[in-house]
Amino acid sequence: MSKKEAPKGKISLDFLRTPKGMHDILPMDQPWWERVESVMGKMADFYNFLKIETPILEFAELFEKGIGGDTDVVSKEMYTVKTKGGDVLALRPEGTAPVVRAYLEHSMSRMGPLQKLYYYGPMYRHENPQAGRLRAFHQVGFEIIGGPNDPLYDAQVILIFQRFLEELKIKNVSLKINSIGCRVCRPLYKKQLQNYYKKHLKNMCAECQNRFETNPLRLLDCKNEKCQPFKEDAPNFFDRLCATCSTHLKTTLEYLDEVQISYVLDNQLVRGLDYYSRTVFEFLIEGGPGENLGAVAGGGRYDYLIELYGGRPAPAVGGAMGIERIIEVMKLQEVKLPEKHEKKVFMIHVGELAKKKSLRIIEELRHGGIQVIEALSKESLKAQLKIADREEVPLALILGQKEIFEESIIIRDLKSSLQETVPFTRMVEEVKKRLR
Ligand code: HAM
Repeated sequence: MSKKEAPKGKISLDFLRTPKGMHDILPMDQPWWERVESVMGKMADFYNFLKIETPILEFAELFEKGIGGDTDVVSKEMYTVKTKGGDVLALRPEGTAPVVRAYLEHSMSRMGPLQKLYYYGPMYRHENPQAGRLRAFHQVGFEIIGGPNDPLYDAQVILIFQRFLEELKIKNVSLKINSIGCRVCRPLYKKQLQNYYKKHLKNMCAECQNRFETNPLRLLDCKNEKCQPFKEDAPNFFDRLCATCSTHLKTTLEYLDEVQISYVLDNQLVRGLDYYSRTVFEFLIEGGPGENLGAVAGGGRYDYLIELYGGRPAPAVGGAMGIERIIEVMKLQEVKLPEKHEKKVFMIHVGELAKKKSLRIIEELRHGGIQVIEALSKESLKAQLKIADREEVPLALILGQKEIFEESIIIRDLKSSLQETVPFTRMVEEVKKRLR
């Protein structure tokens, strides 16, 4: 619908559409969503992650403090609301900060030194909508909080996303990894980057000029054409990581080698959220359909976030995957969804009395654990059989005057067109037998 103003005297119907960058998930799309949700459940179960749900609204300060006030996500993209009570809340732009907030608020470290949590739900970012970039989108995230600061967990989080994508039959997946160091080595590296970029700054984009002071690491992943020539000679962090960070990266990669996960080390991978330290990673589609959608999953280690929120220091690592992007890739790559083997029966009635009786029969079938489809609003037998055919159900139950009188029902095999009349009392049992 256009945004044109309504002619005088007419009401504008411009509100009859989803807001820009937001979308409905229609019934025909549900099989894709169900597929992703089912794999998510399997992954969580297998790798022992427990589900956590947090509110869609949080205090805006949670994100300002955790993600960083200078990041695009916080400074440009956050939807904020001022409540009647004067609180400033934000529609969550991501799930890590809320999970850490819940971890601290409920003293979850007391429930066990290592918490493996996963979440799934909508996130909101006021971005410029384009391919793969929405304002309301869904993420599934896996977080490991507490325990030892072990590269094994970096590798496990990466492994989960790799297996998730494999299970969904997504092709051309590429994994990029980098280390962005720690409190010891990162400040030194930042200085070296600033020294290098200082001389080029006047020829770089406005965004980079702004970030030069606050977050020089982001200059490395600027996508602006103007800034590309300066990247090549920028100092490489791999050569400047402290011994602990260097070993952490090396060991993470060794674990990934062990489970035969290939990766590309990308020293210019810098994520757009400030809470990261050491390992950062992104999964992308490289080559073929879906490659223009951006990262399908990303994450990393965030060892300082809990401390930043006032908690006792605890290491943490995690990642999140964008569901809309994943589904888009699956559709573009023409992934076949596994067939559902739910066996259903179609309830057909002939005549007014049979229509009434059908409701009771459907209830009986439900009670017996049999899935039923019906088109009770259709009166003709032909119309109902046509729908049954379209639904590809194996059996139809046909009820007419005669059957009601005889307290029986016709069970028709829709493939062979063979049918048999059985008494009501044996209906559930006979249907089950045939469905087997
Ligand atoms: P992120 O990279 O900002 O990380 O988002 C994770 C994924 O969400 C992206 O790889 C992408 O698939 C999807 N995504 C992000 N923005 C959009 C958008 N505007 N439209 C559609 N999809 C989008 C995080 O959010 C971190 N919390 C991940 C993490 C968890 N790090 C540690 N733990």
